[in-house]
Amino acid sequence: MDGSGSQGTWVNRPEEPVMATFAFDVYGTLIDTDGVVPQLCEWIGSRAEKFSKTWRSKQLEYSFRRGLMRQYENFALCTRQALEYCCTDYEVSLSSEQKDTLLQSYRSLPAFADVEESLGALQAEGHHLFAFSNGTSEAVEEVLHANGLFEWFEGVVSCDALKTFKPDPDVYHYFMREAGDSKDAWLVSGNPFDVIGAISAGMKSAWLKRTDKTVFDPWGIEPTVTVATLSKLCEKLDINKPKGTYE
Ligand code: 2OP
Repeated sequence: MDGSGSQGTWVNRPEEPVMATFAFDVYGTLIDTDGVVPQLCEWIGSRAEKFSKTWRSKQLEYSFRRGLMRQYENFALCTRQALEYCCTDYEVSLSSEQKDTLLQSYRSLPAFADVEESLGALQAEGHHLFAFSNGTSEAVEEVLHANGLFEWFEGVVSCDALKTFKPDPDVYHYFMREAGDSKDAWLVSGNPFDVIGAISAGMKSAWLKRTDKTVFDPWGIEPTVTVATLSKLCEKLDINKPKGTYE
């Protein structure tokens, strides 16, 4: 390969083309966890959006705590228990059928609008794409299939295999081994804690800052690149871009 053909060269090494390996975080990056809001709106009205945000943040908090306490239960249980918490906290009385409907909808949550095209563009350049999630492989495969995205990935890597969660450094090292120890391993994530976790474990990371309001944790560990959409990521990592410039 001469580095100028349709197969993408990687930006830093035009003379020695190496395809990058991308670990795409799933929930909050490819898949919109606020996809439950329309259903919630029907049941709890104007509090739906706030409820959805609290549900998501409790779900993550439970995963962090279970990781620290070494009391692993899978991500679906964190999601279920976070929903129970929110119902109590918001004084919302949902029947068990309604809760099951919400939890079932987690398996078919919608993808963000820019996802399919961007995955296609990166794959066409020859990069290696993986889904990498706290969710079990089964749950992740289901939600990717529901959105017609499964075909873009070489594989699904789930933290469930290690019985712990992001941002335990072990899960990022596990990803790198599973994905073939690429020299250019990137995490792409909308979740700042995930970006910081990946960089600390030796990966590069693109932070997908999907809204202006999202704040990056001020830990002094910065994303390798920050983009507002996945399409912008494709542009930023364009093969024709001057080498090593991730402004
Ligand atoms: C994921 O691992 C963190 O929810 C996020 O998919």
